[in-house]
Amino acid sequence: MADEKQNGPAATITVGNVETTDQPCEEFCSDPCGIVIFGASGDLTRRKLIPSLYRLSKNGLVSKNFFVLGASRSKMNDESFRADMEKAVREDGGFDAKAWAEFSSRLFYAPVDGFTDRASYDRLKAALSEKNRVFSTTGNRIFYLATPPSAYGEIAGMLGEAGMSDESAGWARLVIEKPFGRDLQSALELNSALYKHFKEEQIYRIDHYLGKDTVQNILMLRFANTIFEPIWNRRYIDHVQITVAESIGIEKRAGYYEEAGVLRDMFQNHILQVLSLVAMEPPSVYESELVRDERVKVLRALRPLGMDNMRSSLVIGQYAAGEVDGRRVAGYRDEEGVPKDSVTPTFAAMKVFIDNWRWQDVPFYIRSGKRFPKKFSEILIQFKALPHRMFKETLYGEIGPNALILQIQPDERVQMKFHTKNPGSRVKLRDVIMDFAYKQGYTGLLLDAYERVILDCMIGDKMLFVREDGMRLCWSFLKDALELIDEQGPYSPELLFYRSGSTGPLESDFLIQLDGKLWRNHG
Ligand code: BG6
Repeated sequence: MADEKQNGPAATITVGNVETTDQPCEEFCSDPCGIVIFGASGDLTRRKLIPSLYRLSKNGLVSKNFFVLGASRSKMNDESFRADMEKAVREDGGFDAKAWAEFSSRLFYAPVDGFTDRASYDRLKAALSEKNRVFSTTGNRIFYLATPPSAYGEIAGMLGEAGMSDESAGWARLVIEKPFGRDLQSALELNSALYKHFKEEQIYRIDHYLGKDTVQNILMLRFANTIFEPIWNRRYIDHVQITVAESIGIEKRAGYYEEAGVLRDMFQNHILQVLSLVAMEPPSVYESELVRDERVKVLRALRPLGMDNMRSSLVIGQYAAGEVDGRRVAGYRDEEGVPKDSVTPTFAAMKVFIDNWRWQDVPFYIRSGKRFPKKFSEILIQFKALPHRMFKETLYGEIGPNALILQIQPDERVQMKFHTKNPGSRVKLRDVIMDFAYKQGYTGLLLDAYERVILDCMIGDKMLFVREDGMRLCWSFLKDALELIDEQGPYSPELLFYRSGSTGPLESDFLIQLDGKLWRNHG
C-alpha cells in the first residue's frame, strides 16, 4: 500500500560537476555602458541594485568600460553616496575591500531637484556625457527607474525631451519594475507615455522571478530532456499546482500593498509568468523573442475567470493575527499604515484553465499568500491516477499518482515521486522520491535574480523581461477579478480571514478538494 509514512530515504541523483570556472569577460561580461539609477537613495537601490552590481563587478562580469551614476533628490555627493552604498554592500555580506575599491571608483552621484525639473536633466546629460567619455562606454546607457511607479511616465518623458533616449550614439535602455500600472487601462496609459520617446525594444520590464535560476530551469528540464515532453500534456497530467508562499507579512510596505493586494503584487506578474513557462510550447530555437512569443501564447489562451464563475474559481483572504516561526505576529489590519477596515487581500487561490490542445480541461491551481508557516515556491505536476488497479487483490488501498515537484525556492530541488516494492517477502509498496538538489555538484558562480536580469539588460538579452503584449494579457486576464474585488459588491468574492501561520482560508482547501485534490503544503 502506498503509505506516506513508509517513504524510504530519497534516492539521490548524482550529477557531474558542470563548473563555470573563471568567468572570462570576453565571453560573459556586459557591453560597455553607464547605468543611471533614478531613486538612488531608495530602498531598492540599497538592498538589491548596488549589491548586485558590486557582485557582478567583483566577479568580472561587467565590462571595464562601465560606471554607475546614482540620481535622486537627496542632498549627497559622490563621497557620501559611496559611503552609504558601502554600508549597503557590507550589510549584504561578501564585502571585499579590493573589489569595493575597484567598483566604487566607478560610482558617482548626480543630485536632481525633481523628476520633472528640466535643468536637472540638462545637468544629468552633461554628467553622463563626461562619464561616457572618461569610461569609453561608446555612449551606451541604461536608465534604471528605482522610483515610485507613478514617476515612470514623467521621467521617461523628461529623458526623451532632453535627448537621452536617442540611440544615434550608443544604445539607450529603460528599465522599469512592476507594478506596470494598476489595471489594464493604466498600464496602457503608462505604455503610451513610455512610447513617446522609447521604442518597445528599448524598454526592459523586470519580473525578478524570471531571473531565478530554478525558474529558468523549467525550460531546461522540459526541453533538454526527452523523457518529460511526451507526457507533458492533458493525456498524462491530472493537474498542476503553483504556489508562492511567504512567511513574511507586508513588512513596511503598507502604502504600496494597500494599493496593490496579492493579485497585483504576485499574480499579474510572477505567478502568471511561471505558469507560462510550465505550459508553453517549445520554441524552434532558444532565442529571446521566440521564447517570449511562446510565453505570450499561453497567456492568450488563459480562459477568462468569468464574472459568473468567480466565486468557484477564486478565493481571497487576508491574514489575521497568529504565530509564525514561534513568534506572535499582528494581523494585516494592525500593520503600521493599514486602515483598520482594509479589504486588501493578502492571499489568493485560483483555478485556471488554458484553452488549447495541450491543456484543455487540465486545472492549474495557483495561489500565493503572506504569513504562511514557511516560505516556499514550488510547482507540482501531478500525473493521472493509474488507469487500472492490477494489484487490487494483493495490495490494499489506493496507489497514489506520480508527481514531479519543482521547488523554486528556498530549497531548490527537482523531485520525482513514484512507487517501488518494499524490500522483503511481503508485497508492499512504498513511495519514494528521486531527489535532485539544484546546487549539488556545482561549484561555479551563482547569480541571484537581480544580478541575472541586470546583466542581461547590459548584454541586451530580453528573454527574461516582460514584453508589452505579455503584460497586457496578464492585466486582461485579471481584469474582472480585480474589478469585483475593488468594488466589494454582491458578486465579489468574499474576503476571508486566515490565521497567520496557516496556509490560507479553509475555503481555498475546498476549492481544490471539491475536485478531489489536495494542496501540497510545507510546514
Ligand atoms: C515582490 C513582491 O515582487 O516579490 C513582494 O512585491 C514579495 O510582496 C516578493 O515579497 C517575493 O519575492 P521572492 O523573490 O522573495 O520570492
